[in-house]
Amino acid sequence: MRTVRTVVMTGGTSGLGAVAAQRLTREGGVRLLLGARRETAGAETSPLHLDQLASVREFADAVHRWLDGAALDGLVLNAGTLRADADGRTVDGVETTFAVNHLAHHLLLRLLLPALSTRAVAVLTTSGTHDPATGAGLPPPRHADAGLLAHPERDPGRERSPRRAGQHAYTASKLCALLTVRRLTHLPGGPPTAIAFCPGQVFGTGLAGQLPLRSRVAWSVLGHPLLRRPLRRLEPALNGAEEAGAALADLTLGRLTPPPGRCYAALRSGVLSWPDPSAPARDDQLAQALWDDSDRLVGYRS
Ligand SMILES: NC(=O)c1ccc[n+]([C@@H]2O[C@H](COP(=O)([O-])OP(=O)(O)OC[C@H]3O[C@@H](n4cnc5c(N)ncnc54)[C@H](OP(=O)(O)O)[C@@H]3O)[C@@H](O)[C@H]2O)c1
Repeated sequence: MRTVRTVVMTGGTSGLGAVAAQRLTREGGVRLLLGARRETAGAETSPLHLDQLASVREFADAVHRWLDGAALDGLVLNAGTLRADADGRTVDGVETTFAVNHLAHHLLLRLLLPALSTRAVAVLTTSGTHDPATGAGLPPPRHADAGLLAHPERDPGRERSPRRAGQHAYTASKLCALLTVRRLTHLPGGPPTAIAFCPGQVFGTGLAGQLPLRSRVAWSVLGHPLLRRPLRRLEPALNGAEEAGAALADLTLGRLTPPPGRCYAALRSGVLSWPDPSAPARDDQLAQALWDDSDRLVGYRS
């Protein structure tokens, strides 16, 4: 097993990410830096607002200072948002879900790739909702065109209902996570291990925080541990935040490793498997185009 010494993580302040962060430090014994928009007791944090590209650049600088010449063994890009619509725009003028879930993480990856160690693992949290076969009724991604996802008002085929437009922004951003991992697995200078992790259906986290009250209440109630066993009969993809966080930590620590040629890890009823993601998520040309377009959108030049 790899010896993991340094890990940087987004989305470690809440939900399954908070569980993973605790496990990484308490059981994995790693030095962990969270990029977060708020301080978290017991964790080393540095400010990171994923809806501002300037903040991502400042955070990357802070990571390099924190490493002080050491190499980075783990990069966990777990932060995510699910919104009631696709009307929000960041200070950079980009649709908020795409900006937070994909574009900010793309820039962070770009800026931290040179610091990765020769045994590093990068884990990006995706979702089964990227795939019509496992999408739980959410509108599946129609494309991974970064320009249109950044500016959905220019997309002629966009969802007309605000709610479905918000859901589409989310599922498309999760396809982008898979395509980013696909690109990383072929990228010269990329991490030796890149994994897209789907935690399954995890109720009770903060993910419903931007949704209408009714959805927030349902999300919270369904997250009660006593309901897990009966709910699993209806929804085999269901997991508790502890199970999902433990799997995320184990993937980062190298306790769970991908079989040859696999990079999509899906947790279903507490069991991790390595299925095929959707066909678009396996498209190398699409992965390359997203990577290049994302570079242009964040103003990155290699
Ligand atoms: N729950 C599920 O059923 C499910 C299913 C599939 C995939 N996922 C994915 O799993 C990941 C974790 O989700 P979760 O369910 O644990 O939700 P969560 O409790 O809401 O966690 C989301 C994390 O992202 C951070 N974050 C959100 N917006 C941010 C921003 N603008 N800048 C910096 N950090 C930001 C949050 O920080 P704050 O603490 O400051 O809010 C929090 O740490 C997400 O990528 C989500 O899409 C979840």
